[in-house]
Amino acid sequence: MVRVVRATQVEISAAVQALRDGELVAFPTETVYGLGANAQDPGAVRRIFEAKGRPANHPVIVHLDSPRFLHRWVREVPQTATRLAEKFWPGPLTMVMPKAANVNPMITGGQDTIAIRVPAHPMAQQLLTAFGGGIAAPSANRYGRLSPTRAEHVREEFGDSLRIILDGGECQIGLESTIVAFEGESVRLLRPGSVTAADLRSVAGELLTGAAENSPRVPGSAPMHYAPQTPLTVVPAGEIDAQADAASSGGRRVAVLAQRLPLRAHKYVTWINAGKRPEAYGHELYNNLRTLDRAGCQRILVQAVPDGDRWDAIRDRLLRAATDVAQSDDGTGTSLAVLP
Ligand code: TXA
Ligand code: MG
Repeated sequence: MVRVVRATQVEISAAVQALRDGELVAFPTETVYGLGANAQDPGAVRRIFEAKGRPANHPVIVHLDSPRFLHRWVREVPQTATRLAEKFWPGPLTMVMPKAANVNPMITGGQDTIAIRVPAHPMAQQLLTAFGGGIAAPSANRYGRLSPTRAEHVREEFGDSLRIILDGGECQIGLESTIVAFEGESVRLLRPGSVTAADLRSVAGELLTGAAENSPRVPGSAPMHYAPQTPLTVVPAGEIDAQADAASSGGRRVAVLAQRLPLRAHKYVTWINAGKRPEAYGHELYNNLRTLDRAGCQRILVQAVPDGDRWDAIRDRLLRAATDVAQSDDGTGTSLAVLP
């Protein structure tokens, strides 16, 4: 069980004051930790980009405590968005909608749309309610690196340069939110997350997937996002033992993220069994990749995860973390497209 942690009033007051002063505050959400700034303060939002080393034209999500003040940020809320909000907010769903006129262009990356999310984590809710405004927040990691799912991951990324990190324990979901955009009343899935395609269809009916013609920029969808430093390869499920042996021949050290125990002892292999349940696998994914990245290995091999939309978000993040995808000998894992 994941501990649900609330902040003290003193911690929340300090964080709110920091936001009002234009400082950055890291805070927990149920997906990953966010690096937050007052969304109405252009100087503070610029500081997010500097701290992350993120290109200035990449838009960030604005977090609200409820849809109450949505109209301050969104010009026109599609009816389908209202229905999705009723079902999935607060929660791990981000919706990209037409932006209101006065929204700071740093937030939207100069686009005509804005991404909004109402997170469910109690500490995020406490912070947002006490602050009383929108908090712009990308994941609290340096650009292109693994997202943080624990307060200590944020500390590892930013060290003392971040004065306030609210510690809400382990993020329950552990993978970034599902992102959707709207084309009229039609819904397009931009980034898979724990609100699955089937969940979205249950409200929206049809679901568009793949990039639209005038597709908005989603840097999280660039190849080589969410990547560890050690080269990572996704291998067909049935070949993980053989590939671990081959990769570790001659005493090379290899790290493995699998869904079962090894079939035999491998001498130079650090093996993590992440299990067969997508919720538990997703919860630990970034933490496991951090552990394997630090294990002093030359390669990370990941056993390909099953098909099916409960694994979509995990499969997506693994492919973005991968430097290459091993070709299948036996047909398993063929649903994994080879990255360009
Ligand atoms: O779970 C999450 O979504 C976490 C927590 C902190 O809320 N946040 C997060 O933010 O993952 P970030 O910045 O790492 O990823 C947000 C994604 C980016 O890929 C960004 O391009 C996309 O959302 N995005 C933001 N505004 C957008 C817009 N107007 N149109 C299209 N994509 C947008
Ligand atoms: Mg991110």
